Amino acid sequence: MISSAILRRITSRAVGGVIRRVHNHLLDRRFDQRTGFQTGGAMQPWQLTINSENVGFASEYTPTPTRVFRRILGVVNDDLSKFAFIDFGSGKGRMLLLAAELPFVAIEGVEFAAELHETAVGNVANLAAQGFRTEHISCHHMDAAAYAIPDRPCIFYMYNPFGAPVMSRVLDNIEASYNRNPRPMYVLYLNPKLPHLFADRAFLRPVPRASAARLIDRFAFPEPLLVYRTAAA
Ligand SMILES: C[S@@+](CC[C@H](N)C(=O)[O-])C[C@H]1O[C@@H](n2cnc3c(N)ncnc32)[C@H](O)[C@@H]1O
Repeated sequence: MISSAILRRITSRAVGGVIRRVHNHLLDRRFDQRTGFQTGGAMQPWQLTINSENVGFASEYTPTPTRVFRRILGVVNDDLSKFAFIDFGSGKGRMLLLAAELPFVAIEGVEFAAELHETAVGNVANLAAQGFRTEHISCHHMDAAAYAIPDRPCIFYMYNPFGAPVMSRVLDNIEASYNRNPRPMYVLYLNPKLPHLFADRAFLRPVPRASAARLIDRFAFPEPLLVYRTAAA
């Protein structure tokens, strides 16, 4: 007999898979075709050039669906022009391109796979060639664990990029930076496989979502979203 919890989990995964496919095949292919960017497709770490001891903890490259990103940012009820937006595991840079539509003071992508990083750099150059401002966008080819947290209000985005050892080091870095300079910071964590690593971080508090919003999220997002903010936010 399958318990109702297992049945719920199977149904939820199946619904998530269908929503993700609709986004990838119908909506996001059009995004790349319309804009000339290259952000689609999935790639496994073993298909990529990654020079890091943390390669074994990396998730595959899959981009966040474009509409999902716009809805996720709507969760932050704050003046975005105060913040830097940082995508940990930025892949081909889709989130950086979408973040460029918003008034962030800086936009940073951190990606350790050479091919993905190079594609992201090309996409940002393409955005500039289309006449958009890109001086505030940086693509860092490096391991997220070694990334120095900017000393300003930040919104960190993570689409289930890595496993526990890397996530712990990234959270240590954010916490140390916050302790040096307490300031507003948010973490937006899509497809959160490691919520327990956030639970004992006293400097971060979960941002509660109204149950109606959670229900809409469930259909709008292929995976769940957790949002945290610092006490100073
Ligand atoms: C699920 S993809 C997300 C891509 C992008 N953030 C998006 O939402 O469209 C996760 C990305 O994290 C990258 N990644 C995994 N571990 C990393 C690490 N330690 N440092 C930097 N990038 C990493 C992977 O190479 C992959 O491109």
